[in-house]
Amino acid sequence: MVQPIIQVQGANKEFGKGKNTVAALKDVNLEIQRGEFVAVVGPSGCGKSTLLHVMAGLEQPTSGRILVDGVDVTLISERDLPKVRMQKIGFVFQAFLLIEDLTAYENVEAVLWPSVDYTKEKQEARTLEVLREVDMLERRDHFPRQMSGGEQQRIAIARALVNGPPILFCDEPTGNLDSKTGENILKIIAQLNKEKNMTVVLVTHNEELVKFAKKILHMKDGVVR
Ligand SMILES: Nc1ncnc2c1ncn2[C@@H]1O[C@H](COP(=O)(O)OP(=O)(O)OP(=O)(O)O)[C@@H](O)[C@H]1O
Ligand SMILES: [Mg+2]
Repeated sequence: MVQPIIQVQGANKEFGKGKNTVAALKDVNLEIQRGEFVAVVGPSGCGKSTLLHVMAGLEQPTSGRILVDGVDVTLISERDLPKVRMQKIGFVFQAFLLIEDLTAYENVEAVLWPSVDYTKEKQEARTLEVLREVDMLERRDHFPRQMSGGEQQRIAIARALVNGPPILFCDEPTGNLDSKTGENILKIIAQLNKEKNMTVVLVTHNEELVKFAKKILHMKDGVVR
């Protein structure tokens, strides 16, 4: 049996205390195989972002285990977590979250994880390579405010790809874009799944997007079915 690239075992996530406690994830169990394209759907507040955040190691579950490419991200130390995240996970947010004071090129290069053969030339070549993949090479010296939403999201995708992670999480990546621009972003994501065999887990309200997914996780009130 091939080991799933993501395993969520008995995961619970609670926010707040006492009577204000919100159970955002309730005993979630799931497996995602390498190269799968998975859509997560469900009403607002049902826990979609929380699920992505715990799978990506951005938040710890209150209980349960999360295994990402064989590593239990709930057991790993604060110190080692960033490295695991950089190597294994790319994350694309609805709001792009680029750094305003950095150019397109700098936004991508800033997250490049230093490897053993870390030279200035290799670093530059890798950054340019991913900018080319999202067709943004010619905008490399532009700042976020000088780019359209779709262009900013392409830079955000390049940033998610620069360390060559096997998994790409996207939380409503087209939520802030018009439908045509959104389609373009979706094509890039679908291509990464198809041609690079990247595992894609994507939250969306967009029916068109859901069509691309081979597997759909339906969420309601913190429960995945
Ligand atoms: N940091 C937090 N503190 C307290 N409650 C939170 C926090 N983050 C999320 N929640 C609550 O957890 C529940 C799940 O939130 P989550 O953001 O995962 O929903 P969602 O499905 O992504 O919704 P949307 O479609 O609106 O983005 C909600 O009730 C939300 O209010
Ligand atoms: Mg959300």
